Amino acid sequence: MKTRLLKDTEEDIRIAAKIIEQGGLVAFPTETVYGLGANAMDADAVRKIYEAKGRPADNPTIVHIAEREELGQVTFLVTEDMKTLMDRFWPGPMTMIVPRGEYIPYVTTGNLETVGVRMPENEVARELIRRSGCPIAAPSANLSGRPSPTTAQHVIDDLDGRIDAVIQSGPCRIGIESTVIDMTGKIPMILRPGYITKKDFEEALGQEILLDPTLNRKPREGEDFHPKAPGMKYRHYAPRAEMIIFKGDRIRVEAAIDQERAEREALGQKVFVIDFDEDRETVAAHEIFAMLRQADREGADVILAAALPQRGVGFSVMNRMLKSAGFNVREV
Ligand code: TXA
Ligand code: MG
Repeated sequence: MKTRLLKDTEEDIRIAAKIIEQGGLVAFPTETVYGLGANAMDADAVRKIYEAKGRPADNPTIVHIAEREELGQVTFLVTEDMKTLMDRFWPGPMTMIVPRGEYIPYVTTGNLETVGVRMPENEVARELIRRSGCPIAAPSANLSGRPSPTTAQHVIDDLDGRIDAVIQSGPCRIGIESTVIDMTGKIPMILRPGYITKKDFEEALGQEILLDPTLNRKPREGEDFHPKAPGMKYRHYAPRAEMIIFKGDRIRVEAAIDQERAEREALGQKVFVIDFDEDRETVAAHEIFAMLRQADREGADVILAAALPQRGVGFSVMNRMLKSAGFNVREV
């Protein structure tokens, strides 16, 4: 299949919308990461997403809408809490898990009776949804298991020849995926941390909310360990290189990375270091996936990364880093 490279102009967005209408696959920008879109109501079209990505069939996609009115096509239940969160965080990087409406096929929800829905803020994304005339199912536009794509080039590197088109637009503003919040329980629960934090939700709702207790740690021996978002159980965001995260006092971390680097280089290995400024977690969010891909491109044998403080967006970036490293953490 030849992948069409489109621009983010009105004319090209119209071409992209036509492809979606006809059951094809289009990668498009959002403020978080690039998504790989298909008509969310067309089971055959959504099936092609799983094929193109090599994605396990039990990992549900997120359904993207452009306007509030479209929510009725996705779910039958809109609670007061949902309204509060939509008013505060949409359009933007929040995905709500809600009961599945009857027009959303099971392929889209990975066989679940719930569905993830999000209204992106990116204008190209919204224009594409509007013109397609349907909600768009879209996981991140990477090969399954690879770091999420934050530029059009990342998408092309992974999916060229496997999808119908890519809308080439700028780099994604935020750089990590949306926060996934489950609204189907008594108390809302964060299933995937993102740019919108637990504290942000608690301020909006005026009550404490829950965090999936499996987040940011690995299973203990013999533990029944079930992340509530199916996607969170897979090894993810994985560079080809081995990755080690160094955690502890800042000065000791830097010394440990320097020493490990020297030892590895003495063995002839190529070393890639990731060391973000501690109080710049939004910069870290913006850069993390591009850096993991860069390490691969440069043929790194090992990635040595300094842990971030696990507060606010730092918790979310650490979530991605821990998964990338397969929880390979060295306390120093
Ligand atoms: O920022 C984002 O959310 C991006 C852009 C393209 O919008 N999309 C994205 O999709 O990251 P994806 O498919 O890579 O991740 C979706 C996550 C997975 O962990 C999946 O398991 C979870 O959301 N999810 C989706 N529907 C769910 C449901 N009904 N119940 C629980 N988890 C769900
Ligand atoms: Mg993904």
